[in-house]
Amino acid sequence: MIVLGIESSCDETAAAILNEKKKILAETLLSQQEHKAFGGVVPELAARAHLEHIDEIIEECIEKSGVKIEDIDAIAATSGPGLIGGVLVGVMAAKAISLALNKPFIAVNHLEGHALAARQSNDVSFPYLLLLVSGGHCQILVVKGVGQYERLGTTIDDAAGEAFDKVAKMLGLGYPGGPMIEKMANKGNPNRFVLPRPMINSDDYDFSFSGLKTAVRKLVEAYSPDGNVAKAIINPEDTADICAAFQVAATECLVKKLEKAIKYFKTNYPEGKDLVVSGGVAANSFLRDNLRNLAHRNQLTFAAPPLQYCTDNGVMIAWAGLERFQKGLVDTLDFKPRPRWPLDEIRSE
Ligand code: KG4
Ligand code: ZN
Repeated sequence: MIVLGIESSCDETAAAILNEKKKILAETLLSQQEHKAFGGVVPELAARAHLEHIDEIIEECIEKSGVKIEDIDAIAATSGPGLIGGVLVGVMAAKAISLALNKPFIAVNHLEGHALAARQSNDVSFPYLLLLVSGGHCQILVVKGVGQYERLGTTIDDAAGEAFDKVAKMLGLGYPGGPMIEKMANKGNPNRFVLPRPMINSDDYDFSFSGLKTAVRKLVEAYSPDGNVAKAIINPEDTADICAAFQVAATECLVKKLEKAIKYFKTNYPEGKDLVVSGGVAANSFLRDNLRNLAHRNQLTFAAPPLQYCTDNGVMIAWAGLERFQKGLVDTLDFKPRPRWPLDEIRSE
């Protein structure tokens, strides 16, 4: 069984070809550079760049795989949630190939792509507890099976990755912010600045990062002659200390709620063995180390995709497509891409 997966929901144009033995036959990925000057992804620029590159990304992937195009058994594409202009480009390409080859099209939910990615890279079985932390989402879920999710909690304002990106922007570190914050934080003192941990003790599994972001803004304002963050001049040492304080605060919020969720998971899913983290922020080593310790303290196995498969990529979409295909979950060509598409609205049969 060979599946082609296409990803184009944000600022990565990507494709991958996998087989049912979890083997990656080929992958291609283009990270759009068009957004760097804007400190965030500009949807219209993203859509145009996807349109310009999607054909070559897919062609190169097929060529590298050594697979004959007619030997591809199904074509999966991110069909939401995400920036709709980009999603449309990927879906139209996938539908065209599906029609030309007369092979099934599979509409993959981007979040399910992140959610199932660790099953491709690691030996993870259902049910498992998942922290999904990306630029657009921050959720704790029980993954019960393909298309079957119980959402325990979510962010009530910013996603974790969004907070990393906004803080990086205030500090003049560029986009995407997560990797730069991590790099600076490694050199910084996390105890010099005290930042809040919003909602850390609330009786739920939800998150809030907006107050943390505002607290960083207040710190940064003090470095500006007139309180305007854009004019702040911060030396590298202070930048590193702010980054370290922010990374620790954000991580603590995630770990504390997950610790609570583990109790629920163990009571309600006693057969579950794994704690998984995925999504772009899961590439953060400080967070990974803390979650690994949390898992071990609670007799769970820790699993996460390799770093390059935490951020958006074609492999996770091909893999989710393959898992759905194996269950007979194919879609028709009139499937309408969905800019918003919560995991609990995915088809599981
Ligand atoms: O999953 P992803 O590539 O796209 C979405 O589906 O949103 O996640 C991108 C997010 C960005 O906010 C980026 O800053 C964050 O993941 N990110 C990180 C790291 N690498 C990427 N955040 C913290 N530490 C990192 N090393
Ligand atoms: Zn993503």
